[in-house]
Amino acid sequence: MIRKCLFPVAGYGTRFLPATKAMPKEILPVVNKPLVQYGVEEAAEAGISEFGFVTGRGKRAIEDHFDISYELEHQIAGSGKENLLTSIRDLIDHNTFSFTRQNEMKGLGHAIWTGRNLMGDNAFAVILADDFCVPEPGDIGVLAQMAELYKQFRCSIVAIEEVPEDETHKYGVIAGETLKDGLYRITDMVEKPAPENAPSNLAIIGRYILTPDIFEIIENTEPGKNGEVQITDALLQQAQSGMVLAYKFRGRRFDCGSIDGFVQATNYVYENIYKNGE
Ligand code: UTP
Repeated sequence: MIRKCLFPVAGYGTRFLPATKAMPKEILPVVNKPLVQYGVEEAAEAGISEFGFVTGRGKRAIEDHFDISYELEHQIAGSGKENLLTSIRDLIDHNTFSFTRQNEMKGLGHAIWTGRNLMGDNAFAVILADDFCVPEPGDIGVLAQMAELYKQFRCSIVAIEEVPEDETHKYGVIAGETLKDGLYRITDMVEKPAPENAPSNLAIIGRYILTPDIFEIIENTEPGKNGEVQITDALLQQAQSGMVLAYKFRGRRFDCGSIDGFVQATNYVYENIYKNGE
């Protein structure tokens, strides 16, 4: 049902400087795999096969990562290391990868709008690769959970999680009516509120399913917080004129846009995934 996924990856990743001076944040490896590849694998598990990236200057490594490296494959053929390239080669063989550029950093809403020609006229997913999500053992991934919900509700859906009160200022925060356990119909949304202005402790994380009318709404959305076009503002409008759901996902999220979250993700993957040979 959801066939396409957009990755806005134009940000500068300033929190990781100097590591991100010449290398995209999304290529930083969690153990031995770039962050963005985990995101693509999560989307592929949800049935998605067409990937669009909104890139910017200095992001060439992402395009190269999702392209065949004949030289490298030739070099390691017969060395016993071929299996290290299997996961990425499988993704390249079974999916399409398209790229466009956001020329100016005008915010996440603007980045998503920049990807409109890659996403077309159907509902699509958005992944912010620096929010790294892992399912519970044996469970499906976050985006696959959301794709299931989309089949039932056919409207935009955002993933949420409970955050400590003193962290609401880092997220879009929602208020909503409970539809069932862990599923809310959004009634209000505030971008990066101070704790005293936060409508709840339910914060939006980097997983979205968006219906394509969002592009026209973004076009008519004035720059908001920090002078950026905020996806939160556009989604609030969509919620007020129709329906947007917020879904408390199963699984665990690491904020790999921050050093602490990145180190925690690295330890988690090393102990629970890499050592088990997965
Ligand atoms: P962030 O503000 O968290 O990421 O944007 P950043 O700018 O890369 O990192 P810092 O804060 O400087 O360390 C959230 C996501 O939105 C994308 C970013 O690439 C990131 O995935 N984004 C944000 C864009 O693609 N374009 C924008 O104009 C803004």
